[in-house]
Amino acid sequence: MKRIFSGVQPTGNLHLGNYLGAIRNWVRLQSEFECIFCIVDMHAITLWQDPKELTRNTREVTAGMLAAGVDASKHIVFNQSTVPAHAQLAWIFNCVARMGWLNRMTQFKDKAGKHKENASVGLFAYPNLMSADILAYRATHVPVGEDQKQHLELARDTAQKFNNDFGVEFFPQPEPLIFGAAARIMSLRDGTKKMSKSDESDYSRINMTDDADTIALKIRKAKTDLEPLPATLDGLEGRPEASNLLGIYAALSDMEKADVAARFAGRQFSEFKKDLVDLAVSVLGPINAEMKRLMDDPAHIDSVLRSGAERADAIARPIIAEVYDIVGFLKP
Ligand code: AMP
Ligand code: TRP
Repeated sequence: MKRIFSGVQPTGNLHLGNYLGAIRNWVRLQSEFECIFCIVDMHAITLWQDPKELTRNTREVTAGMLAAGVDASKHIVFNQSTVPAHAQLAWIFNCVARMGWLNRMTQFKDKAGKHKENASVGLFAYPNLMSADILAYRATHVPVGEDQKQHLELARDTAQKFNNDFGVEFFPQPEPLIFGAAARIMSLRDGTKKMSKSDESDYSRINMTDDADTIALKIRKAKTDLEPLPATLDGLEGRPEASNLLGIYAALSDMEKADVAARFAGRQFSEFKKDLVDLAVSVLGPINAEMKRLMDDPAHIDSVLRSGAERADAIARPIIAEVYDIVGFLKP
């Protein structure tokens, strides 16, 4: 059986990059896999989170996923902290994975920056919690962005070491499903920077909560250069903003970027942007409306998460019971 586990942090400002780079891929995987999608609130608190914001963002990310087409009745959507297996297995993995392995994680170095001594212990142990997320369900496939590949390799090493240490064939080696670089969406203000929730300019990104007028305004204001659009991809060399807008058009329309270039060859940006606005509004408009509707009904979102947590718990609980047995813990 092919089982997917994937996680997303509830850190707010869901944007077009999250949609095209992650959420939309999840929606598409639903026809092929049994999917478990987790809003990783425990990972979020490895960096300081305002409690009220964390609650709000957990609901917002859930709403974004549901609005984009994640089917929470056929698959599982829940928030991490409500299923004990994650914390239970993470502790065991803290005792399986080695300091040396975690010391090599580039994300810790990036996030801790110069203040390593002042980073939370949780930030350092973050990858072990991620391994626990995946392996508590014995998931076989993990869709992740390029940036999480190293963590997934660590999960594979941890699974292997656990199996070796205890002389069992218990955990599978989870396979990455890496999302293509094609879906790397850049800032609308600077084509060399990733579109990001933390950019101080709201004009740098299209949020999943932006309405049609806002989307139109942001695309009209998006940075471009003075040349008309090129006929081929070679003509995008040294034109990061043009390249990004064509890439966004391609991703939203499910076309090849080269075909988008051919379609708009020689046209002015002002014309191209009109078409891009129509396309973006046609794709994001319905998602945005549904997200708003869901956000107005937090009780419904909470009930979706609770139902997901019950079903997630039903899968993980017996796996944790076996792990306890293997480790030699007396059963509770
Ligand atoms: P983040 O909340 O920034 O960690 O992003 C969550 C996921 O969304 C990442 O794992 C990526 O797969 C995806 N993502 C975020 N920003 C972008 C972007 N600018 N382009 C494409 N994918 C992105
Ligand atoms: N670390 C991932 C990110 O920041 C989120 C995540 C947590 C995850 N647990 C996971 C992704 C398990 C895949 C599988 O994007």
